[in-house]
Amino acid sequence: MKNMSFTRDEIKRHLQANGAEQQELFKHARQVRNEAGGDGLNIRGVIELSNRCAENCLYCAMRRDNHLLDRYDLDEEAVVAAAGQIINSGIPTVFMQSGESAKCAVLLESVIPKIFSKHRCDILLCAGKKSAETYKRYKEAGTTGYILKFEAANPSLYENATGASYEERLSCIRDIRSAGMKLGTGNILGLPNQTLDDIADDILLAIELSPDYVSVAPFIPNQGTPYENASKGDINLTLNVMAIWRIAFPDALIPTVSALEYIHPDGQAAGLSAGANVITVNFTPKQNRDKYAIYAKDRFVVGLEHAYKTARRAGMSLNMRKK
Ligand code: 5AD
Repeated sequence: MKNMSFTRDEIKRHLQANGAEQQELFKHARQVRNEAGGDGLNIRGVIELSNRCAENCLYCAMRRDNHLLDRYDLDEEAVVAAAGQIINSGIPTVFMQSGESAKCAVLLESVIPKIFSKHRCDILLCAGKKSAETYKRYKEAGTTGYILKFEAANPSLYENATGASYEERLSCIRDIRSAGMKLGTGNILGLPNQTLDDIADDILLAIELSPDYVSVAPFIPNQGTPYENASKGDINLTLNVMAIWRIAFPDALIPTVSALEYIHPDGQAAGLSAGANVITVNFTPKQNRDKYAIYAKDRFVVGLEHAYKTARRAGMSLNMRKK
């Protein structure tokens, strides 16, 4: 199916949809999803490798200046064991996520081939900016896809919120593609000072990048960060972005992120009703899980039971690994 494109005005109108108009938008998004790939819910098992980070984003508790955060690194044995648990649970995708750490970048080079040669599974990474050569090595070692969100399409909004270079971020996104991996990207909805036009630009930038996976998370104010007292992202705007992306990308993998459940009970089922088709179950060893303060210290941690329940609630069934 051809990707559908939108004008900026159409995007702004859909973003503001509420009531019956919003339900129509969601219905359209579900139709597009179901026609493209059926109503199966894809499932990933995530292992959070390390909460060390060289970056200093104002919104993220893993930022380098957050000295209150107890840092951890998983070792090779723990990662390979967690990957085995994911596969044994019938989940087809091993998703490894971490802060931007040099040590972790090296760990990935040893665990990717081990996991790939043992399980021949999909391997997905989200570990930040790397050199073009590193992305190529990850690909050659067996990685299927890499997620690097652009966070905000407005260069000054991005640079103010991260302290990093916008050009560099986009250049990494292009390098992921050039390395031959599937590309995941997306934004944060509700960053301080973000306007409706900024969100429309996020949607347009994603459409231009034409990713294989695209995700939006509502901004969650994190303790110990400069943005800790800012307001959280709006659930309806977040759901509307998901629905617009679904209509623009019939085949894309769009996750219903755990941050939705954190800001709203049944938020992840609502994400599925807005057109999402992926849920991620957490396989980080229990003693480290609470230290991975993405979204929030008391973030919602998704287990397999919750994934089944959420799928049922949205009338979908989980796509488990074929034995
Ligand atoms: N709120 C929402 N999303 C966040 N991320 C990090 N911190 C937050 C937060 N406080 C997202 C970023 C990053 C991804 C791994 O997690 O988009 O790219």
